[in-house]
Amino acid sequence: MRVLVTGGAGFIGSHFCRVLRRAHPDARIVVLDALTYAGNLRNLEDFEGDGNFAFHPGKIQDRTVVEGLIRCESITHIVDFAAESHNDRSIQNSAEFIETNVLGVYTLLEATRRFRIEKYVHVSTDEVYGSIEAGDFTEESPLEPNTPYSASKAGGDLLVRAYWKAFAVPAVITRGGNTYGPYQYPEKLIPFFATRLLNGKKVPIYGDGTQVREWIHAEDHANGVLEVLEKGQAGEVYNIGDENERQNRQIVEILLEETGRTWDLVKSIPDPRRNAHDRRYSMSAAKLRNLGWRPEKTFEEEIRRTVRWYAERRDWWEPIVRSEDYQSFVRAYYGPSLGEDL
Ligand code: DAU
Repeated sequence: MRVLVTGGAGFIGSHFCRVLRRAHPDARIVVLDALTYAGNLRNLEDFEGDGNFAFHPGKIQDRTVVEGLIRCESITHIVDFAAESHNDRSIQNSAEFIETNVLGVYTLLEATRRFRIEKYVHVSTDEVYGSIEAGDFTEESPLEPNTPYSASKAGGDLLVRAYWKAFAVPAVITRGGNTYGPYQYPEKLIPFFATRLLNGKKVPIYGDGTQVREWIHAEDHANGVLEVLEKGQAGEVYNIGDENERQNRQIVEILLEETGRTWDLVKSIPDPRRNAHDRRYSMSAAKLRNLGWRPEKTFEEEIRRTVRWYAERRDWWEPIVRSEDYQSFVRAYYGPSLGEDL
């Protein structure tokens, strides 16, 4: 197996590379990553000295790069993690979301068709379903995305579906829940709050913090993608979720406990996502479980372990939070609400 992992220097993509290497010691792993603000070669530090691993910088929407790489590496499988993934950034500026998450998927699908790739796994999100008040989304639920980010992911999903229908491209879609664990860029709820709380800084909770998310550990998510790569049926969609539903406030409570801080550092701010802020995500992963996959991580233990990872790995995140891109995002997005405590 010679696998092209796009977005492999990102959070879930890098976990996938490790999971793939453990399961397939002989697989050729080729990472294509644009190294945008969220991509980080240090996420792939475990691959130093691995002769069957290669890294290439580049965007998935660049046809010359994608097709050149597939040809010269004789790629047989593609797993696509490359995406712009932060809702809040998509509300500030959507262009890059459409370019990567829609045009990029188109480029990969065309390449899959032309080079007769054996399987293309498109890694997507439960957010394409929108918000659900009660019950669970299944793979049959309609797509009702509410932010430019989730709409761009839904656009990619629909292209995948159409390429399967029109050209029988052997493509499969996974839709994962809110993912946590080491190496997550500190803009998403858990690492953003953990790193700020470790530094004794205020954290911004949107509205009353009663929104509900379903959490899954990055390694369980990556194992789910691997299961789909190995056993998923072309043309099918598989949800990857772990039934750990928590209100944002409950997550914050754990983060405060684990960092030894108190609620006086938590500031409720007006919801920047306004009507686009989904109240609740919840999905059934029964279809993937039927293939044999099971999540292995215990949420309460692993979220605490994740905070301890951030406490120990300041060498990983401090350069990020000091970077100009990060500082200007946080200033522009949270400055008006958090005032001087940035
Ligand atoms: O469900 C899967 C999705 O989960 C992925 O597709 C996305 O890429 C990923 O970003 C995540 O989307 P969310 O918007 O749910 O993640 P985020 O960590 O940004 O926010 C989680 C919840 O926490 C959400 O209700 C908004 C809230 N929040 C977030 C931030 C960053 C806050 O209250 N304050 C914050 O500063």
